[in-house]
Amino acid sequence: KKIEFLPECQSTNDELMRRARQGTVSEGFLLWADHQTGGKGQRGNTWVSPKGQNLLFSLLLKPRKLLPKEAYLINVLAGLAVHEALEKFLDLKNVSLKWPNDIYLGGKKAGGILLEAGVTNSTIDKLVIGIGLNVNQTDFELDTATSLKGVMGYDVNREELLEQIICALERYYLLLNAGSKDTILRKYHDVMMWRGEVHWFRSGDEDFAGEIIGIDQQGRLVVKTNEQTRRFEVKEISFVR
Ligand code: BTN
Repeated sequence: KKIEFLPECQSTNDELMRRARQGTVSEGFLLWADHQTGGKGQRGNTWVSPKGQNLLFSLLLKPRKLLPKEAYLINVLAGLAVHEALEKFLDLKNVSLKWPNDIYLGGKKAGGILLEAGVTNSTIDKLVIGIGLNVNQTDFELDTATSLKGVMGYDVNREELLEQIICALERYYLLLNAGSKDTILRKYHDVMMWRGEVHWFRSGDEDFAGEIIGIDQQGRLVVKTNEQTRRFEVKEISFVR
């Protein structure tokens, strides 16, 4: 079996990682839930999503030669897959990816990706890609959040959308395994939010402005300030505005 639906689950990422450790699921297995009681977001945040409205799923990959420092590429291709599904299947023009792994519609967040890795002998042997995408939700606690319905005005079929995302993801994964890392990075730059713009950042206790240049070969954010070009890991920097 390659796909399983759960009406409720604590976190599809945790559940899938548990099963992967037990060895009861293989590469390509997809777990999706209608509701999570303990959904997890990036940076230790929770991911809250009302029942019956959105997409919450996790996919298991078992990359063969992926080093931990290359894991960001999976984040990149998961983002590209969601981007492509929304653009091609729903004809949305204003989808962008906010580094490192948020999905934005217009200026608002519509989804996110949470990648979790199992490492043995310093290579990644299990990778859980968790994606949460706001589909038909219409009430939001934060006015910085939106959904597909929020921008299009009508309901979207979740199963069909899921299928499109998985198809695109598979294609990008094959592309990566065929060695087309540069093609993938180029595509990411094309859809990267705020690229070429000047924004404010915080790193440690320092605030500074800089132009977003893109990401480098290690997935670090490249920012150009007046003085220099700087590179940051995910945990070293945050956006102020
Ligand atoms: C973010 O903070 O933007 C990432 C959110 C990722 C949420 C998804 S929902 C399915 C999967 N299971 C989880 O517990 N989290 C991810």
